Amino acid sequence: MSNFKVSLHSKLPAVKTSIFSIMSGLSSKENALNLSQGFPNFESDPKLIELVNKAMKNGKNQYAPMPGIFSLREAIAEKMENLYGISYNPDTEITITAGATQAIFTAIAAVIKKDDEVIIFKPAYDSYEPSIELFGGKTIAVQLNPENFNIDWVKVKGLITDKTKMIIINSPHNPSGRILSKEDMLQLESLLKNTDILLLSDEVYEHIIFDGEKHQSAGLFPSLAERTFITASFGKTFHNTGWKVGYCIAPAFLTEEFRKVHQFNVFSVNHPTQVALAEYLKNSNNYLELGSFYQQKRDLFLSLLKDSRFDFKPSAGTYFQLLNFSKITDESDVDFAIRLTKEQKIASIPISVFNEAGLDTKVLRFCFAKTDETLIKAAEVICAI
Ligand SMILES: Cc1ncc(COP(=O)(O)O)c(C=O)c1O
Repeated sequence: MSNFKVSLHSKLPAVKTSIFSIMSGLSSKENALNLSQGFPNFESDPKLIELVNKAMKNGKNQYAPMPGIFSLREAIAEKMENLYGISYNPDTEITITAGATQAIFTAIAAVIKKDDEVIIFKPAYDSYEPSIELFGGKTIAVQLNPENFNIDWVKVKGLITDKTKMIIINSPHNPSGRILSKEDMLQLESLLKNTDILLLSDEVYEHIIFDGEKHQSAGLFPSLAERTFITASFGKTFHNTGWKVGYCIAPAFLTEEFRKVHQFNVFSVNHPTQVALAEYLKNSNNYLELGSFYQQKRDLFLSLLKDSRFDFKPSAGTYFQLLNFSKITDESDVDFAIRLTKEQKIASIPISVFNEAGLDTKVLRFCFAKTDETLIKAAEVICAI
């Protein structure tokens, strides 16, 4: 008889159930306030839901075209033009994906071969590393400075070899809430000049940026744009992470390779939601107001935490806030996050799980994409710790 367990060599032996599933599962078992996983606990705009219903009633229920419906790709091109003054061809440079996760996976699958090196910055969103590994690539992880999450570009330069194929950046950054400045992007531009290194710029939180700062899309920097896959997510922008619709923007030669993989790992993406999103994007206020909407939530949450024993610096973007608990306990961040969920009924994410070699800086990540009522309750619990 075959012994499948012995003959099957896992392609991802180190990968376990993600911390998001663990903490969300524990949170619902403990009936805790769930500020762990990054999703809103309020609904999408009813107008958008109505548009999806309408598309379904109008028979948009069969396969969408492989790259996504044209009107949605066109609306994305218009958004890029309006926001950043950059023009992308909807025909050859924009592809609709099943969330940003699929866009990231497909971009990596399309270009990473055995022994290629990919530089990522830790703490990092957890899909990058296994995606690189699945295609035989090697992750070169750079730990960000835990104080300010700045990138040491000199250090990055020292890590570039003739095997470096790609660098992955993420701004606004999950989990730190830090944003890359224009100066950062210029440093990256000069680092990559005269190389064939590709860039994957994960911009899922592009509209969630605070205090008058401007998102520095990789598309704004011509010598970056010519080598970059930009990945984005409607789930983050329109409060419907469960719909899993996102997109990838890349120059035609990269999009061509991207679509070769895309057509065989999803073929095409949910059709009625694409029709609805194309219509909804016509009103730019639907995404332009997102920054102030979340800034109000960040400010409310932090004003209520000012007398707590946690230390923090206000998040500059995303809907995450880091809280440092080193004044409270010596426990590991994982143990403390689990104990808070069980005893205080509040769930968060310990950030050591995103760090290189599990570096524990005594920091928890809280998601503030929640109703004001939930944030007020959460702050009461946190202040009592
Ligand atoms: C940095 C980052 N990239 C990508 C994603 C995935 O986005 P999506 O839900 O559209 O797949 C997330 C979601 O949490 C994220 O935080």
